[in-house]
Amino acid sequence: MQKSISGFSKLSKVEKINWLIANHFGNNKQAKTVLKSYWNEDKKLQQLHDEFIENTISNFYMPFGVAPNFLINERLYVLPMTIEESSVVAAASNAAKFWLTRGGFKTTVLSTEKIGHVHFTFKGEKDTLRNCFETLKPQLLKTTAPLTKNMEKRGGGILDLKLIDYTSKMPHYYQLEVTFETADAMGANFINSCLEQIAVTFETLSKEASNLKGFLPEVIMSILSNYVPNCVVRAEVCCAVDDLSLEGHFTGNKFAEKFIQAVRIAEVEPFRAVTHNKGIMNGVDAIVIATGNDFRAVEAGVHAYAAKSGQYASLSHATLENNIFRFWVDLPLALGTVGGLTALHPMVKFALELLGKPSAKDLMQIVAVAGLAQNFAALRSLTTTGIQKGHMKMHLLNILNQLEANPAEKEQLITHFKTNSVSQRAVFEALKNLRA
Ligand code: MEV
Repeated sequence: MQKSISGFSKLSKVEKINWLIANHFGNNKQAKTVLKSYWNEDKKLQQLHDEFIENTISNFYMPFGVAPNFLINERLYVLPMTIEESSVVAAASNAAKFWLTRGGFKTTVLSTEKIGHVHFTFKGEKDTLRNCFETLKPQLLKTTAPLTKNMEKRGGGILDLKLIDYTSKMPHYYQLEVTFETADAMGANFINSCLEQIAVTFETLSKEASNLKGFLPEVIMSILSNYVPNCVVRAEVCCAVDDLSLEGHFTGNKFAEKFIQAVRIAEVEPFRAVTHNKGIMNGVDAIVIATGNDFRAVEAGVHAYAAKSGQYASLSHATLENNIFRFWVDLPLALGTVGGLTALHPMVKFALELLGKPSAKDLMQIVAVAGLAQNFAALRSLTTTGIQKGHMKMHLLNILNQLEANPAEKEQLITHFKTNSVSQRAVFEALKNLRA
């Protein structure tokens, strides 16, 4: 039986590892060797990573790749991508190259508003609460002044504060809904601090407000929302339909027709929509992670946005009008280029420098382009050659590594599979034949 432990976080790193090896690995020292092999020799760098979270015992590597040739609003970018899936960077690079000669990507930030709520209950008369809120509103806003001062200097701050009545959804449930502009910060800490301050002041002042007639609001919690339908960016591509022709495959018209049908399917059918949007998130998450942003927040917000009509649907859309093919995506993205890990993690700093030290708005546009490019690459493969050809080609090295092929064997088999289709079985057989 596994042993529980108290005070684990107080142990040193080595003590933690020793406890794990003794209790979960039957004292097998090999597990310890694996953990240690991922420690960084640079002690200062290792300590930085150790201190990002609690109970760090090692590092977990993800590949950091780059996708060049992204022409976005007439400017060329090399995109940093942190992702484990073999074919994603290659797909992004292909899509970038394809659109490089067709005008590149165009983007527009449609809105940048963030949102948070003080969730509370109130059992008295609605009108009494409304009147009390209107009276207290200026003081509630004023109470955040020490917190908003610096943000206001950077062009951000609180945009609005509203009382929302949700008693039709849950008895006695109301919200103070606060909207924010957070400039180049993602703003989670700023928003949550403001909300908590507003909540405390609201409860305190309510006790003094005689017009509430003995009923007091009770704050349940105060927290930002990761659903940001008013912080949206659009990325798009367009070209003459004839420019879409794929040699050896289709005319431009045929390609556009199939491509648009594929998008329509994702617009009307949730099973396909989820996979379609997952492909978009391949590009989005890779840059969100490389730039030190919170990919769980982005994922949650994007998928909620995809379901805003009441049915989960495609985030991207495509049309063919007057022989012009147009393909675009709207994504809600609350991102930051200051704060958080941005000035701490050396690879995040590198990624932001590679992108030319973007503002949060710039980063929203770059990330949306990566999502659109990924979606384009996936749909192009799916509607022409099928996805497995390209995917397995990129996965070949993983299979060869799994089979412990040596460098000479890898070289020969990579050449062999240039003209043969890749599968786990086929690679196994080819390696067996080579070794025989
Ligand atoms: C795989 O990671 C992503 C795709 O499944 C996306 C799609 O089906 O559109 C290829």
